[in-house]
Amino acid sequence: MAQVPVTVTVTGAAGQIGYALLFRIASGQLLGADVPVRLRLLEIPQAVKAAEGTAMELDDCAFPLLDSVDIFDDANQAFEGCNVALLVGARPRAKGMERGDLLEANGGIFKPQGEAINAGAAADVRVLVVGNPANTNALIAQSHAPDVPADRFNAMTRLDHNRALTQLAKKLGVSINDIRKLTIWGNHSATQYPDIFHAEVGGANAAKAVGDQSWIENEFIPTVAKRGAAIIEARGASSAASAANAAIDHVYDWVNGTPEDDWTSAAFPSDGSYGVPEGIISSFPAVSRNGRWEIVRGLDIDAFSRERIDASVQELVEERDTVKQLGLV
Ligand code: NAD
Ligand code: LMR
Repeated sequence: MAQVPVTVTVTGAAGQIGYALLFRIASGQLLGADVPVRLRLLEIPQAVKAAEGTAMELDDCAFPLLDSVDIFDDANQAFEGCNVALLVGARPRAKGMERGDLLEANGGIFKPQGEAINAGAAADVRVLVVGNPANTNALIAQSHAPDVPADRFNAMTRLDHNRALTQLAKKLGVSINDIRKLTIWGNHSATQYPDIFHAEVGGANAAKAVGDQSWIENEFIPTVAKRGAAIIEARGASSAASAANAAIDHVYDWVNGTPEDDWTSAAFPSDGSYGVPEGIISSFPAVSRNGRWEIVRGLDIDAFSRERIDASVQELVEERDTVKQLGLV
C-alpha cells in the first residue's frame, strides 16, 4: 500500500529561505527518499501570489513524492493536520527598532501560530522555528500550544553548527567527515558559544589538535557567531540556501535519528541541564533517539566554556523576561 503523505507546513513560503527550502522538501530530502509529502504554505496576503508562482514551479518539477501544494493566508487552515511545521516567516528588524520592538512584532506572528498549531496540528507535530529571534519566537509559539508537548518546539542552531564544522575542518585541513561532537550552546545570536573542547577530530580532541587558544577565542568563536552578519554584509541579504539546508538537516535527524558516534546541536526547552533554567529554549549538544532529542549528559564544562554558556543563556533569560512583560508568554 502506498505510504500516507506527511503534511509539512512552511510559513514565509514566498521568502528567500522558502524558495531554497520547498524544492528540497518536495524532492524527499526533509524526511526521506520514500516519504511522500503534502505541502501547506502560509504567507501574508500580499505574498500569496508569489507563493502561487513557487507552487507552479513545484508542479513543473514533477516530483514523484509531492502529493499536493496548498497555499493559505490563514494560520488555522495552514496548520490543519500538520506533522512538521517549519516557521520561517518572521518580522525583520526595521531601522530604529529596538530588540523589545522586534520581540513584540514577532509575538504578533508566533502567538497566533502557536494557537493554530495547538488547535489543528496532528498529534505527532514537530515544530522548527527558523525566523529570528528564533529561540524566543519558539518560546512564544510553544507557550500558546499547551496541548502539544513542549519538546516538540525547536529553534534552529544547526546552521551555526554547520558553520563551526567548516571553520574547524579548514583550520585543521581535514574533511568535515573527520569531525564529531561539536556543540553550539545557547542562543542563535552573536552570544552563541561554539564549543570544540569536547569535539573530536579523527578520534583525538579537537581543541588539542588546534593547539591554539588564541585562534579558538579570537577567530573561531567570533567567526561562527558573527557569520550571519558577515553573510548579510557580503550578499546584501541574509543567508538563505545554507539556512534552508540546516533546516533540512535538523528535521531529517530529528525524525530519523543521529549517528551512534556523534551528536549535533539543536535548541529545545531546557530541563535544567548544564545550569540552563528550565523551559528556556537553548541550544545543547543533542542526539535524536526514537524521534526525540536527548541532551548529551555528563560533559565537563571548564571556566572558559561556563562563562560563555552563561552569557548566551543570560541573553535568552532577558528575552524571555521581555516577552513575559509584553504578555506574550
Ligand atoms: P524573507 O524576508 O525573504 O522572507 C520572509 C517571508 O515571511 C516573506 O515572504 C514574508 O511575506 C513572510 N511572512 C511575514 N510574516 C508572516 C506571517 N505572519 N505568516 C507567514 N509568512 C509571513 O526572509 P528570509 O531570508 O526567508 O528569512 C526568514 C527568517 O529566517 C528571518 O527572520 C531570518 O532572520 C531568519 N533566519 C534564521 C536563520 C537561523 O539560522 N535560525 C538563518 C537565516 C535566516
Ligand atoms: C544567520 O545566522 O544567517 C541569520 O540568522 C542572520 C539574520 O539576522 O537573518
